[in-house]
Amino acid sequence: MTDDRISALRKAVETNPDDVLLRLVLAESLVTAGETEAALDQYVVLLDQQGVPDDQLVTVGELAAANGRLALLRSCLETARQVGVVEGTGRLQQLVDEMISSRSGVKVKLGPEAAEDLAGDVSKELTTFDQVGGMEEIKRVIHRMVILPLSRPELYEKYGRRSGGGVMLYGPPGCGKTLLARATAGECGLPFVNVRIEDVMDPYLGVSERNLHAAFERARANAPCVLFLDELDALAFARHKHGGSESRRLVDVLLQELDAIGSDNDGLLVLAATNAPWDVDEAMLRPGRFDRVIFVPPPDEPARADILKVLLKDVPADELDLSALAKEAPMFSGADLRALVERSVDRVIDEALATGGEPPLSMRHLTEALATVKPSTLDWLHRVRSYIEFANQAERYDDVAAYLRSKDVRRRLS
Ligand SMILES: Nc1ncnc2c1ncn2[C@@H]1O[C@H](COP(=O)(O)OP(=O)(O)OP(=O)(O)O)[C@@H](O)[C@H]1O
Ligand SMILES: [Mg+2]
Repeated sequence: MTDDRISALRKAVETNPDDVLLRLVLAESLVTAGETEAALDQYVVLLDQQGVPDDQLVTVGELAAANGRLALLRSCLETARQVGVVEGTGRLQQLVDEMISSRSGVKVKLGPEAAEDLAGDVSKELTTFDQVGGMEEIKRVIHRMVILPLSRPELYEKYGRRSGGGVMLYGPPGCGKTLLARATAGECGLPFVNVRIEDVMDPYLGVSERNLHAAFERARANAPCVLFLDELDALAFARHKHGGSESRRLVDVLLQELDAIGSDNDGLLVLAATNAPWDVDEAMLRPGRFDRVIFVPPPDEPARADILKVLLKDVPADELDLSALAKEAPMFSGADLRALVERSVDRVIDEALATGGEPPLSMRHLTEALATVKPSTLDWLHRVRSYIEFANQAERYDDVAAYLRSKDVRRRLS
């Protein structure tokens, strides 16, 4: 399948979005061409259109599992249940279980058995904005949107402006969403209750909902605190996109919990993060819920230099030109930069072992390691661009659109 053929198919699908067979051919061609992420995006739509043939549900589910797409995998499972593909259901359930348990190194149970820990002490978060390199603009936005309303509630009350509601951070993987959420708690001097998807999701009927409710209870017992929902897309998978009753129940519980903010959620600041905002149920974004949405882009050049400085703080090193290095690492995420630093340090350790000395980290180690790390943000940016162009979601992604229009980014993505 040539690129031309695929782009012709893409155009045809854009013109005829409801032509299920055409979309299926596109999805299959993308798989053959190795464009797996793009193919899986098509399968998300196809499942919504009930356009995935029954005998392909397992194959699609396996592909989703192999690519870490839990939400898609779950929706394959639910479709298989609905259409009564018995064997397929078993296999897909097994994949879901495996994926959930592989994500949780140590499974932290938030269920009823954790009830007695509920009132237990959750200590104050120590991470602060100092540990977040660069991102000055985002820090300012968070300060205005989150920290100020929390520290000066009387000001907001006076002008009749609500200070409740949640904040959703979204952007490419590894660019500091989780770190920023933690640091926000630290800046507010509040404890951080991290609700990871693997702590909530449970294959047994009704247990995920109970876990989610327990997480909110735990946070309330420790209020004031920051409750953080990581991978919001998996918790709040767009319900219009598939009819599964199971994930709908989870979405409903989450909506109920969010709507309680301002009443019995007083002192609870809810932050969430996702790198698949297009999969998040619209209902989550209504006023009073996650009504403040912040795009966390890949760090720019000065931010990359700053992040490198933070990451290298405790490493014995020569004089380093971090600005030069940041320049040579376009589109790198914070996580990519961390990989770069770790690989450089590995080289230093290898040398130390070989020579018996204790050489400092030098520019040479860093530039050698740089050749082995590639930026991991490009896939995401390509995907969001096609959502903006083709899925009529432009107004939702204004900040991203502005970012994509900048000259440097346009050049990197073309
Ligand atoms: N601005 C930054 N300053 C310092 N370190 C950073 C920064 N951004 C990212 N990092 C490093 O990269 C790691 C990954 O960042 P983080 O987990 O916050 O990304 P994320 O956006 O939540 O990614 P994901 O979408 O995969 O959950 C952090 O633990 C940190 O070491
Ligand atoms: Mg994260």
